[in-house]
Amino acid sequence: MNLKNFNYKKKNYIIQVDNRKLYIKPEEKKLSLLKILLIHRINIFYQCNSGYCGSCNIKLIYGTIYQFQTSIACIQPGYILACVCQIQSNIKIQI
Ligand code: FES
Repeated sequence: MNLKNFNYKKKNYIIQVDNRKLYIKPEEKKLSLLKILLIHRINIFYQCNSGYCGSCNIKLIYGTIYQFQTSIACIQPGYILACVCQIQSNIKIQI
C-alpha cells in the first residue's frame, strides 16, 4: 500500500459496546456519540440531548473523544456525556 496517498480521514472507527462492535462509517464520525449509538440500535437513556441533564452518561473505557459543547451536568471521572461528544479514535464504552 502506498502510504503517501492513504487517506487517514476516511478511516473507519470501531466502537466496542460491552461485547458488541459497531463499525462507524466516515460520514457518521461528525455525529454525536449518542446519535451514532441510536443509529446502531443501542439502547441508551437520554433526555435533553444538549449536555444539561446528565442522563446519557456512559463510561469510557478507552479511546479519544472530543466534547464539542460545554456541559453543566455533573458526571463522575471516567464518564462522558454521549450527546455532546464525538469520537476521535476507536473507543470502548460501557453503558
Ligand atoms: S441527554 Fe441530557 S446530558 Fe445528554
